Amino acid sequence: MMGPDVVAPMNPSKLPNDEREKRMWTKIRNGQSIENPDEMSDEYFESLSNLMLQQADSELAGAFGYVPWIMRAPTTEEKLAVANIVKDEVRHARAMYRLLEEIGINAESHVAGHDYTMRVTADGDELKENRAADDRRVNIFYYTIDSWADFVMFQFCMDRGAGHQLEDVRKSTFGPWRREIERIFKEEMMHVNHGDFWVKKMAIDKSTKAEIQGALDKWFARTMNIFGRPETNRNQLYRRYGLKSRDNDDVRKAFSNEVRLKCIEWGLNLPDWKPDWERIAEDGVISG
Ligand SMILES: [Fe+2]
Ligand SMILES: [Fe+2]
Repeated sequence: MMGPDVVAPMNPSKLPNDEREKRMWTKIRNGQSIENPDEMSDEYFESLSNLMLQQADSELAGAFGYVPWIMRAPTTEEKLAVANIVKDEVRHARAMYRLLEEIGINAESHVAGHDYTMRVTADGDELKENRAADDRRVNIFYYTIDSWADFVMFQFCMDRGAGHQLEDVRKSTFGPWRREIERIFKEEMMHVNHGDFWVKKMAIDKSTKAEIQGALDKWFARTMNIFGRPETNRNQLYRRYGLKSRDNDDVRKAFSNEVRLKCIEWGLNLPDWKPDWERIAEDGVISG
């Protein structure tokens, strides 16, 4: 398992919990931002570090999964596009680890203790609730990207899904994260646009339509599984603290409605997706 600094992150503040809790609620009730650990109850601190670690680890694992596609991209223009996306994702990871460091979490020792290049083989062997490893990345980042269709579909699905999750972070009560997320959000939208350009191009071309449909069949369900179960206690806790603003299932619906419209427009079939709550983690995570 991970080092104790990360398994049970401890608020480094010298103030007692009841004093911090008082300061926290005063700020939240007045619509002011939480800015540092002195203004966080133990529970707020734990929730915040949990969400930020999930995003940080997903950003880093995502970047590493894209690296081979710098070499394999079809044209030099696309090799540069992929290299830029890799740079964005490493920057997102670094920005998130820096925020974690600023609230007293030893992010470097956490990162040093995990292998972010580790992947599972996909062959119909979808991940269940058991995670493949003990870093905090979202399950979808454990799968390999095996083709250019996979690569662009990942952006079409996962970066779009992450964008919907980040909408909530744009309203977060934690000021440093809310301010950081604007640039990350803009870059994720560029990744989504790159995915959309290619998915559309491959969908309207008869010679590539079946291949891109196959990629959609594979990645759509995996993306639907990232959002978490409806009405969980954890989601309610995150909402009480203003770390999220919607139920997990509402975010999932916003994502799938958008994908449905694109599919209709480009002649793709939206795959059936039945919730398999066994397979879906409780708390909707943030990544991309
Ligand atoms: Fe990202
Ligand atoms: Fe991205």
